[in-house]
Amino acid sequence: MRYGAVEAVHGISFGVEPGQVTALIGANGAGKSSTLAAISGLVPAGGRIRFAGHEIVGRPPHEIVRAGIVQVPEGREILARMSVEENLLMGLRGRDRSHLASAYERFPILGERRALLAGSLSGGEQQMLAIARALLAEPRLLLLDEPSLGLAPLVVARVFDALADLRRQGVTMLLVEQNALRALRLAHHAYVMDLGRIVMRGTGEALLKDEGVARTYLGVT
Ligand SMILES: Nc1ncnc2c1ncn2[C@@H]1O[C@H](COP(=O)(O)OP(=O)(O)OP(=O)(O)O)[C@@H](O)[C@H]1O
Ligand SMILES: [Mg+2]
Repeated sequence: MRYGAVEAVHGISFGVEPGQVTALIGANGAGKSSTLAAISGLVPAGGRIRFAGHEIVGRPPHEIVRAGIVQVPEGREILARMSVEENLLMGLRGRDRSHLASAYERFPILGERRALLAGSLSGGEQQMLAIARALLAEPRLLLLDEPSLGLAPLVVARVFDALADLRRQGVTMLLVEQNALRALRLAHHAYVMDLGRIVMRGTGEALLKDEGVARTYLGVT
């Protein structure tokens, strides 16, 4: 995957198992977001990306969404001047609005605030809204780019609680996170990226115990 002359991701290979949480961690510029963008079809990529037995490289983003891969974008991209409910309605992609009940069940706070402008929600609530909206499309694979970005520590904890709930419900997730500690605690499997390559892989548990990972990514000295 390249941006002009810059090769952002090179020769990586990894898998995501259904019903599991897979995490990509790594420093700034490692190529994590680029990897998600390639899977979503937002940037061209070489090589192969197979999803549920089908090759998806080169297919346009809307077809990839229709195949069941839905990304919660970095920065959330909620529509601030629309209500919480209007934001959720967009996630339905034509499905009946009775499905909104499932979002309010998962995230009761969104039910309480359904009539408020989305822009009036706290950062954490906006992140919940973005996740809830993505889930309304009933994805077979949910991609998350830095869900904890810019949130206060207490709020980060709440977002990760919500992700842990989704994990228990068997939602398949590919999670990109700078908060390596939380990502590794949540993930069944994880991959460490550096300069466009995968430099380490293992279960979340194993990587948490790895001294090199601890020193480089968990801030343990
Ligand atoms: N639109 C772009 N145009 C040119 N280069 C880009 C573009 N987006 C990313 N890059 C470059 O590609 C490389 C990978 O960037 P990417 O955003 O995928 O990393 P990341 O791991 O998501 O980093 P971060 O933790 O900062 O989000 C970096 O060298 C970055 O500068
Ligand atoms: Mg990124």
